[in-house]
Amino acid sequence: MAVTIEFPRRRPGRLTPPEEYAELRARPGLVRSALPGGCAVWLVTRHEDVRQVLTSPYVSSNPEREGFPTLGEVQTVPLHEQIPGWFVGYDPPEHGRFRKALIPEFTVRRIKAQRPKIQQVVDARVDALLAAGSPADLVREFALPVPSLVICSLLGVPYSDHEFFENHTRTLVTFTTTKEERQHAGGELIGYLERLVTIKQRFPGDDLVSKLLDRAELSVQEIVGVGLLLLIAGHETTANNIAIGTVMLLLNREWIGDPRAVEEILRFASVADLVSLRVAVEDVEIGGELIRAGEGIVPLVAAANHDVDVFDHADTFDPSRPARQHVAFGYGVHQCLGQHLVRAEVDIAFATLFDRVPTLDLAEPVEDLPFKYDGILFGVHALPVTW
Ligand code: HEM
Repeated sequence: MAVTIEFPRRRPGRLTPPEEYAELRARPGLVRSALPGGCAVWLVTRHEDVRQVLTSPYVSSNPEREGFPTLGEVQTVPLHEQIPGWFVGYDPPEHGRFRKALIPEFTVRRIKAQRPKIQQVVDARVDALLAAGSPADLVREFALPVPSLVICSLLGVPYSDHEFFENHTRTLVTFTTTKEERQHAGGELIGYLERLVTIKQRFPGDDLVSKLLDRAELSVQEIVGVGLLLLIAGHETTANNIAIGTVMLLLNREWIGDPRAVEEILRFASVADLVSLRVAVEDVEIGGELIRAGEGIVPLVAAANHDVDVFDHADTFDPSRPARQHVAFGYGVHQCLGQHLVRAEVDIAFATLFDRVPTLDLAEPVEDLPFKYDGILFGVHALPVTW
């Protein structure tokens, strides 16, 4: 009989995952818990078990299914009921149709070709950071705008509209905003994307929306939904990873300039710890526990990425380790579509930032930083830095 434990508190004042994860991994079977908001779920913490959940045909990603975990108000991105194209919530085979249409735009080769554009964005944001003057908030000046501008450029959104996009996506992913505010922001973004698609139908360019329209594998409404998903999935995740990664490099300066730090930061920080929510659609045994159809499952990727059976000295930041088998991008069919983009973006962001601002330092001790420890994503609300 599984014991029900309180959902582990997030990581106040520290970069490593909640201390309780190590204890949860060591327990036989899985752990019954309640998410913030009260929803009962199974917590999955071992690397092997997390991978099993994320590849099981008896487990669904569809939030419409009975028993799908919810995080109360926190989770509700206003999806205007049902937006076609929000494929992270689709199961195979429907899900595969979207992946097939999008994969060509996110290959290593295609992303490599985007590097000059990413470099331009990063250069402009380092200029803005320097212009803001020391001390500055690295989240506001750099970590948040970089991924937003990169996605805008990928989608074909004109530069002049980037602030509109940034403001509305921020409203969507900020948990302190009201449901009405989030609904309004979602409506504005969808309206904008609909107009963008109409313009690209008439005046195609060298951008993702134009290419999707040209290939005609997805409907116009689906392309709007895909655009919204890319905006939301790729913004705060990457921003938190850049901010937390900067902290890690400032605390471990010997690794500044080593590209291997990119993968180790992804593993160590695992910012998307609570993103891959699932529900069992048939009875299934995972980690020695019988999960009944209709029960919610939470694979905690930060717990899996600190599993000492897979990563030696898992709580030590060591970019020289082989970190590739981490599950920070999830695993299985829903594994992050944007992962090669993230690697390019983060690599360019750190190389440029530390090259141009070599005296960069934290303006406050780590334990005083305003950590986000109660939301879906791990990160910091602000990162005061000096140089
Ligand atoms: C550090 C940054 C990022 C992290 C840690 C991250 C993490 C994840 C994770 C864990 C999933 C799996 C969700 C699941 O299993 O249900 C996922 C899916 C996804 N990510 Fe990312 N992500 C990041 C950045 C991005 C970027 C930059 C983009 C695109 C521009 C992106 C687009 C997507 C999409 C479209 C999916 C859904 C894939 C599918 O369902 O097939 N992500 N991401």
